[in-house]
Amino acid sequence: MSATTSAEELTIGAGYRQAIQWIQSGPKRLLVGGEWVEAQSGKTFETLNPATEETLTRVAEADSADVDAAVIAARRAFEAPSWSALSPHARTRALLKMADMVERHADELAALESLDNGMPLWYSTAMVNAVVDTFRYYAGWPSKIFGTTNPTESSAFMYTLREPLGVCGQIIPWNIPLLMAAIKISNALACGNTVVLKPAEQAPLTSLRLGELIQESGLPPGVVNIIPGFGPTAGAAMALHPGIDKIAFTGSTAVGKQILQYSASNLKKVTLELGGKSPNIIFPDADLDRALQAAVKTFCGNSGQVCSAGTRLFVHESLHDEVADRVSALAGTFKVGSPFSPDTKLGPLISQRQLERVRSCIDAGKSEGASLRQGGSRVGDTGFFVEPTVFSHVANGMKIAREEIFGPVLSIIPFKDEDDAVFQGNDTDYGLAAAVWTRDVSRAHKVARALKAGRVWINTYGEADPVMAFGGYKQSGTGREFGAESIEAYTQTKAVLLRL
Ligand code: NAI
Ligand code: MG
Repeated sequence: MSATTSAEELTIGAGYRQAIQWIQSGPKRLLVGGEWVEAQSGKTFETLNPATEETLTRVAEADSADVDAAVIAARRAFEAPSWSALSPHARTRALLKMADMVERHADELAALESLDNGMPLWYSTAMVNAVVDTFRYYAGWPSKIFGTTNPTESSAFMYTLREPLGVCGQIIPWNIPLLMAAIKISNALACGNTVVLKPAEQAPLTSLRLGELIQESGLPPGVVNIIPGFGPTAGAAMALHPGIDKIAFTGSTAVGKQILQYSASNLKKVTLELGGKSPNIIFPDADLDRALQAAVKTFCGNSGQVCSAGTRLFVHESLHDEVADRVSALAGTFKVGSPFSPDTKLGPLISQRQLERVRSCIDAGKSEGASLRQGGSRVGDTGFFVEPTVFSHVANGMKIAREEIFGPVLSIIPFKDEDDAVFQGNDTDYGLAAAVWTRDVSRAHKVARALKAGRVWINTYGEADPVMAFGGYKQSGTGREFGAESIEAYTQTKAVLLRL
């Protein structure tokens, strides 16, 4: 399997060619203080095309010395009037410009994301559209971030100011790289902060290209710094850094716990968006056709590498066998292949390591006695492709029902009644998302309240909108992205009292 055939290239057009041209255009460096620089160590690392296992290019590898330089640049930019004295309306215009730049380069960015991460082109295109919406959403905020006038005795006047936190360190994963970068950068900038962003080592390219577009949009140097590198070196140096005021992290729960410990060094503010094992609950009165379409779409989307994926499908025991048959049949029609083939539903996983992890989880499902109904194997021997995989008769205590797999693997779990569905749905360390399918309005709201998750969908799955706060209950994280809650997460309150 190759990244693209010439016939496919005709259908993908200019964006693909621009992405390749950009990749080949020169060394990929770090963005520090408005300059593109080599890592101080001179080190570089390679990023692969996971569909072909070929090296796309090498990228400068930041470590603690580069983190220091980026933090100094971000601090200077935070204090410089060119950023700190900017009016809210000017910040709005800056964010709108970034949205326009991304929109203008949408095809190129989508192709670049598909090359570096492996997601199908239709999927990366949708993600780039979401990036544009995200910049525009946050562009609306600067003039709406304000304090309060507080009641006091008559000889005093008290009010609050909402102020930025300062330098924000942002560590993002590889699964939806550009959107993760956009959410974090635009949220921080809307609130007046400056940024040091570390993309994931597996897929850093769209963050770097975004850095170029942000520079072209005229943002003052040092407001956004982008430093690809590895977690234990660059990432840990950021979380430990005394000059960073806040860390926003998206990734595994294990690393999230480490980030919290590192951040204790200077009591950074921390938001963590971590793993999930989200329940998707179908009651017998649901619109089954729609529910099953959505059930397959959510566990196959981005080859299952989505933190909010509905990976535990709870169905009433009376429906279990029918649902298992229909979901398996539908998943079997989902084509695995090149990200650039128009009929591809699932591209490759991100890496050999992720492929091994997914295969070991599939093996665990088999050995624990779940019934493998569909898929279960690698596809081809080049590229990290795996079939959509469905297990039925899963018990909620099995490894495949407890651990985040981050691959296209679904566990179908029967329940007896509403209480049992809620109990099993909540019987997990995670609490990122959940869904309930029913035509009974009271039951829908009752179950939505009972589920311990940061986002709950009723009669749909996975719909996202920047107005909808996103974040975890339990070990799925702390703090929220999107929505008004995310503005709180990037500002702090100062109370001022004046004696009249
Ligand atoms: P990870 O948590 O190691 O990586 C995410 C980011 O954290 C990357 O930028 C990485 O460089 C950085 N990082 C790693 N170790 C660090 C450290 N000690 N200090 C600071 N930063 C560090 O996730 P990984 O290994 O790529 O994937 C493993 C599993 O994590 C996946 O199978 C999946 O279950 C989960 N995951 C969840 C994501 C989510 O969206 N919630 C995204 C990516 C992975
Ligand atoms: Mg890559």
